[in-house]
Amino acid sequence: MPLVPSYIKNLASYKPGLRIDDIKRDKGLDRVIKLASNENSLGPAPLAIAAIESAMQKVNRYPDAFGMALRTKLAKKFDVKIENVIIGAGSEGIISNILRTFLLGDDEIVAAADSFIGFRVLANATGRSIHWVPMKNHRIDLGDIAEKINDYTKIIYIANPDNPMGTYITKEEFDKFYAHVPERVLVILDEAYFEFATNIKEYPDSMKYRYDNVITLRTFSKAYGLAGLRIGYGFSHETLISNLLKVKVPFEPSYFAQVAGCAALDDNEFMEKTIELNKNEMSKIESSIDELGVTRIPSATNFVTTFWESEEKAKSIAEKLLDEGIIVRQLNAFGWPEYIRISIGLEHENDQFIQTLASII
Ligand SMILES: Cc1ncc(COP(=O)(O)O)c(C=O)c1O
Repeated sequence: MPLVPSYIKNLASYKPGLRIDDIKRDKGLDRVIKLASNENSLGPAPLAIAAIESAMQKVNRYPDAFGMALRTKLAKKFDVKIENVIIGAGSEGIISNILRTFLLGDDEIVAAADSFIGFRVLANATGRSIHWVPMKNHRIDLGDIAEKINDYTKIIYIANPDNPMGTYITKEEFDKFYAHVPERVLVILDEAYFEFATNIKEYPDSMKYRYDNVITLRTFSKAYGLAGLRIGYGFSHETLISNLLKVKVPFEPSYFAQVAGCAALDDNEFMEKTIELNKNEMSKIESSIDELGVTRIPSATNFVTTFWESEEKAKSIAEKLLDEGIIVRQLNAFGWPEYIRISIGLEHENDQFIQTLASII
């Protein structure tokens, strides 16, 4: 028996966006703009920073293993019981926990192909059989996903809105799909970008219709600006949550992550500022991209994905932007080599991006 299972040996590891400090060093630049990982360029929610500062003297103690304070607050905010709430080291931490908790024997997974790369890595690491269902018109095809359900299907993963395409599935599409899902199948609805999508009438806020076999995942990494802390949360039936709590890494998320999450939930001012900035800057970037004659996919998130005539062209555009100190994401690792994803940054960062892109083109 080999020491390393073949599905781990052959696993393509997660490829994160480039880091600002690495690019400054490599390119000898003083100023680098990162528009590559859909983070919040406004910084962390100020109330979260204050909470971390006052929590510093307590990090000699282990955090609450059951995250009661944050789970209680989330339960109250979203009008569910604490038994319906899970927290984890980012939504990816919860996804990893779900896969470890519920997959058994010949269980299989169904998910959209070339959707969120973090899920792909975690799913492939399980060594299970996975049906990757191609997207249609840059959208997750729930009809085809429903058709792939078989006797072995245990988990279906849907990112809504999707990353990296920024498209969303509608309430009507979800309802139609859900009618085909057997009760024994767990549906993971990853709503990492839901704060940016809630203004869309057809977007299904999954908290509004709870099903016993659906788990909704959300995160503090995007709109709340806490990506570096690793804190995410989820809602589901109490039986699923109680089993997830048995399997979770005992002291995750960290103490800072838990106190920052609690404080961030109160920071309505920061949230409003974030949503407002994203709305205004998204429409500015979209019209500038259109004026440049570049094809883009309509987005319900805090990023916009563009399409180029070839992989070489996309690579060269991303490299030229990088030479000018602007990090964007060519989507080859996601399975979309002719595409470049641009996260919405601050006003002056987006202006710089548009100007630089225009001069490159
Ligand atoms: C669809 C989706 N889900 C989850 C995540 C990861 O979130 P977290 O930082 O909470 O693990 C991302 C991050 O890019 C994402 O795009």
